[in-house]
Amino acid sequence: MLKILTIVGARPQFIKAAAINRAIKSQFSNSLQEYILHTGQHYDDNMSKIFFDELGIHKPNVNLNIGSKEYELQIKEMQQGIEKVIIDEKPNVVLVYGDTNSTHAGALAGSKMNLPVIHIEAGLRSFNNVMPEEKNRIVADELSSMLFCPTNTAVQNLEKEGFKHSPKQPFTKTQKAIYHCGDVMFDNSLHFEKLANQNSDILKCNNLTEGEFILATVHRGYNTDNADRLSSIFKSFISISNQHNIKIVIPLHPRTEKALNGKEHKDLFEELTANKNVLLLEPVSFLDMIALESNCRMVMTDSGGVQKESFFFRKPCVVLRTETEWVELIENGNNVLAVQSEDRIVTACNSLLSKNDFTFPSFYGDGKAAHFICEKLISNIAS
Ligand code: UD1
Ligand code: UDP
Repeated sequence: MLKILTIVGARPQFIKAAAINRAIKSQFSNSLQEYILHTGQHYDDNMSKIFFDELGIHKPNVNLNIGSKEYELQIKEMQQGIEKVIIDEKPNVVLVYGDTNSTHAGALAGSKMNLPVIHIEAGLRSFNNVMPEEKNRIVADELSSMLFCPTNTAVQNLEKEGFKHSPKQPFTKTQKAIYHCGDVMFDNSLHFEKLANQNSDILKCNNLTEGEFILATVHRGYNTDNADRLSSIFKSFISISNQHNIKIVIPLHPRTEKALNGKEHKDLFEELTANKNVLLLEPVSFLDMIALESNCRMVMTDSGGVQKESFFFRKPCVVLRTETEWVELIENGNNVLAVQSEDRIVTACNSLLSKNDFTFPSFYGDGKAAHFICEKLISNIAS
């Protein structure tokens, strides 16, 4: 039996973890055992608990309750907490997801304790070294033994950095097991779509009609912590909504809610709340989010996950960033990057709203990424 210590801490990681947890329970419970550690990076019920309740993941075995902290301090406290759990629980491997501070801490702790680290969503690069996420994912890739890449581009990024594939232990700094496995988020979208459309009442509760609203999310520090950029983004939402007489639904990340509620944005926040076509919501559950994504007209987001989910549900997406890790969606014309000014965002939005020749190649696998990952864990590490 291979005991996996899974590190989660932020909203998208609870969702990603659901795919592997589901695969272990349904097909690999004889060979794989999972111990889930929540760092406490996200802690509001609607940023954390709701996902464990809704997605059928077993509750975290331990929560370090680290909470929000300055970058280095948060990672250091998480690492120390994870190391203690490694000593007590004696896992065989440490599994980390994505690019958050929790990912970084998990990779540091696993590597320091001489355990193989498994990185799911490896090889992604934005080539924007200012983003904490870019630092986190580079550290995680360096320290991991097995790198599971969601896209071909991610595999190529690793090859360009000098990583070489080697399927068996011993793994070294540059020789690692590198796999193109598809995206566990795609597994989840396929798995939960029907359930979301049966169980979610978010459209009804908010008087929303299929195809007649835009869905928007914003949370990147790059956008929330820059007053001009945040203001351009939210002004563009108002302009688009007015121009097209269309509702715009915005589940607000707590970080964005705090920024908009600050002194600098007082007038803008009042304008947003007074506008009947702008719906500012609390963060929503994953099933509600899928119901919104699969029924909207278009998506506008700076989220990594939501950029792809818009594609899974065949919606165009304005990516509110200057660059992205999910380049295939830009190259294929499904998504457009725009964030520099209100005008640029509105223009990008209008170009996507008037386009109707989208294609949807299978960039993200066949919906069985989690199954593939579990099989490789068993064959490369357990045997
Ligand atoms: C983090 C990740 C980001 C990921 C995002 C997913 C890092 C560096 N960033 O960004 O990659 O896309 O999670 O949502 O790890 N807050 C609350 N309640 C919560 C959580 C956060 O109020 O439950 C507020 C706090 O004011 C906190 C701020 O949000 O300071 C930012 O939280 P943090 O976890 O540092 O970064 P995110 O922006 O959530
Ligand atoms: N999500 C959600 N409720 C929300 C906003 C997002 O369930 O109110 C889901 C979304 O569907 C996706 C994931 O959270 O699966 C993305 O997380 P987030 O945007 O916070 O982080 P990122 O993907 O940018 O790291």
